[in-house]
Formats: sequence, C-alpha cells, structure tokens
Amino acid sequence: MSTAKQGHAQWSSRMGFVLAATGSAVGLGNIWKFPYMVGDSGGAAFVFIYLACIFLIGLPILVSEWLLGRRGQKNPINTMQEMAAVSGSSKLWVLVGLGGVLGAFLILSFYSVIGGWSLAYIKDALIGSFAGQDADGIGALFTGLLASPVTLIFWHSLFMLLTIGIVARGVTGGLEKAATLLMPALGVLLLLLVIYGMTTGGFGQALEFMFKPEWSQVDGGIILAALGHAFFTLSLGMGIMMAYGSYLGEDVNLLQSARTVVIMDTVIALAAGLAIFPIVFAEGLNLGEGPGLIFVTLPVAFGNITAGWLVGLAFFVLLTFAAITSAISLLEPVVEFVEERTPWGRVGSTLVAGCAAWALGVLALLSFNVLGDFLILGLNVFDLLDTLTSKFFLPLTGLGVIVFLAWRLDKEAVRKELGLDVYDFSLWNLIVRYLAPVGVIVVFFANL
Ligand code: PHE
Ligand code: NA
Repeated sequence: MSTAKQGHAQWSSRMGFVLAATGSAVGLGNIWKFPYMVGDSGGAAFVFIYLACIFLIGLPILVSEWLLGRRGQKNPINTMQEMAAVSGSSKLWVLVGLGGVLGAFLILSFYSVIGGWSLAYIKDALIGSFAGQDADGIGALFTGLLASPVTLIFWHSLFMLLTIGIVARGVTGGLEKAATLLMPALGVLLLLLVIYGMTTGGFGQALEFMFKPEWSQVDGGIILAALGHAFFTLSLGMGIMMAYGSYLGEDVNLLQSARTVVIMDTVIALAAGLAIFPIVFAEGLNLGEGPGLIFVTLPVAFGNITAGWLVGLAFFVLLTFAAITSAISLLEPVVEFVEERTPWGRVGSTLVAGCAAWALGVLALLSFNVLGDFLILGLNVFDLLDTLTSKFFLPLTGLGVIVFLAWRLDKEAVRKELGLDVYDFSLWNLIVRYLAPVGVIVVFFANL
C-alpha cells in the first residue's frame, strides 16, 4: 500500500482536511439549491429520498473517492490511470477522472452566475433595498435583476474574478483559516433565521411540508433529482474529493471523517429549508419558485426584522463565502488539468479555464432574459447545464468510482484501510458492490 510519496503535499491535520472537504461540500447546493428542489418536488418525500441517497450512496462514494485518492497520491486522472494499471484493469477507467474534470467545468459556469446573485444581494442589503418591503417588492427586485443581462454579467464576472484570483495564487492557508471561522458563523446565522421562521406563523406548515411525506407524488424524476443532488451537495463525481484524498496521510480514519462532512452538509441544508419555507407559507409565496426561491424569500425577513439589513448583509456575505470555497474547488481540477497539459503555467491556466467557464456562464445567465426562448432538448442553457451535470455526469462518474473500488481493488486491503471488522465489512461490501451501483443504474436508466 502506498504511503505518502515524497514531495506530495499533505493536510496539516485531520481537522484541516475535514474543514477543507466541508468547505467544498457546503455551498450554494445547501442553501440555494436544496430548498428550491424541495419546493419543486413537493416536499417531504423528496427530503427522505434525498437523505437515503446521501447516507446509502453518497457517503460510501465519498469514502471511495478519498481512498482512491490517498492510494494514488496524484491528480484524479493520473490516480485513475495508475490504479487501473496496478489492478490490471482497463485503461478506460481514466474516463472517470476525465468525466469529473468536464463536469466540474460545466458546474462552475452556472455556479458562478448564482454566486453573482449573492454578490448583488450584498449590495442590496448595504443600500437598504430590503427595508420595509413586502413579498411583492422583493419579488420585483429579483425579477429586475434577472431581466438585466448587463447587471447579471457584472456580478457573474466579479464572482468569477474572485474565484480566479484565489485559485491563481494556489489555495493558501488563509482561505482555509477563513473558512474555519466563517462556516460556523454561517451556521449561527441560519439558526437565527430558523428562529425568525418560528415567529412567522408558517413554521408548522413548513415542518409538515418538509417532513410529512406524501409518497404518492414520487416518480422516477424525483428520485433521479434527489440522487443527483446528493452527488452535487457532497461534491462527488468530479474528482474533487479524490484530489483532497491525495493529500491525506495513512492515519486518518476515512469513515469517521466522511460521517462528519456528511452530517454538517445535511444539517446546513435542512436548516436552510427550515429558514425558508416558513416565510414561503406565511407570505403565501410560490413553493415552486425554482432557482430564485431564496432570493425572493429570505430578504422578506431581512426587510422586516430589527437590524435586518445587517443580518441580511451578514447572510449574503457568508453565502458568497460558502459559494467561493466551493467554486475554487470546482476550478482547481480544471486548472490542474490545463496546467499539466499546456505550457501556460499556473496563472495562465487559471485564466484560460476561468474565462472559458465565465463565457459559458454568460450563455447560462442569458437564459433568464434574452435567450429565454432558446431551448436545447426542451431546456434553456441554464437548466441544460444543471440537468446535464446533476443527472448525468455526477451519477455516472460516481458510479465509476464506487464500482472500481468495490470490484477492482483487493478486498482485504480495503477492509484494513477502512478499519472495519469482518462483520461490518460485509455490510460495507453489500452497499458498495450491489446496493449503491444498482441503485444508481436503476434510477438512471429508468429516466432515459
Ligand atoms: N458541493 C457544493 C455545494 O453544495 C457544490 C459543488 C459541487 C462544489 C461539486 C464542488 C464540486 O454547493
Ligand atoms: Na453541499
């Protein structure tokens, strides 16, 4: 088994590793995407299916990505190349690494657009745009933002520039430290908003909506959406967690670390739902609002509580921060790839990769206005990017990872590496060899 190779960086501590992984995982997926998906898919049934996907499929794949990365001690593509060679498997396994890089690139393009919305709302909080507004006023503010390509491009560009700036420098200790401080702050603010939600009179309905399932509404589309989001929210299927694993020492317990990351990610997503849905019900807002949901709900709270502008400001600053820690983890593998295959160097590669994602992001944001009627396969560019990644790229690459680990690696070595006794290992094997892959395959093909 490989020990840390000379010259390859290592996390300073298990804590640093877990925080970095959490920084990648916790992002817009939790606060922006999860609530609107719950709203779109009718509530609790989606939530429970999502939780099942997270723990039965997401968690094992997270562990698998880390384990493969730790053994390879290289970037995801080279890791997959080497692991395939060592285990006498087909060279085609490298596709798992490649699919990851492409998926990360596509996600980054539209992720930055939403990061831009968050920046725009920092400005709105600062100039007091939410003050005293009712749901209609807030709605108009958001519609105005979407209608203006120039404004959208401005904020999208700013967000992408911030991301490029950080990645070009190499991910420094500063960012890791900042994340350490800011993530807990985000948690506290969300908690405050949940408490505000309790005062709105919509809290009971929100609880029921999120936790009392109506199974009759479930269809294949909802299950695929939940599965796709489980991958998205844990940053799986993109080689990102594999890269993080490549900086890991032998002593870190993968299962424990995965449990921590998954629980933090899940708690933040659920809290976001509990902050948002009470306002939706109390104000009679549209549950199926879609991607705009948090931008038309939360500001209603900020506009109507004492010192709300400050809470709003803090909230969007932290949301932006959570988005940036995820965005850099999306840009990093793409840059690594370009850097290793061109003579452009770190800064040049970051610029090229960042600008390419930026350009695609511009197309995506135009689908909220001038390109609204431009449909490919019945979807506008934004929805197409979202669907293509969440429903195709991530599940398929994630499937590749888990199948490779479960079927191509020496079982006994894996058992030892995970520190499982024979009994628990048979459960693990049942999940990674059959349950998770079959689950992904069935859900996937049922939707084609
Ligand atoms: N996990 C991040 C989120 O929930 C998004 C992300 C996806 C980040 C994939 C990196 C890779 O917002
Ligand atoms: Na997440």
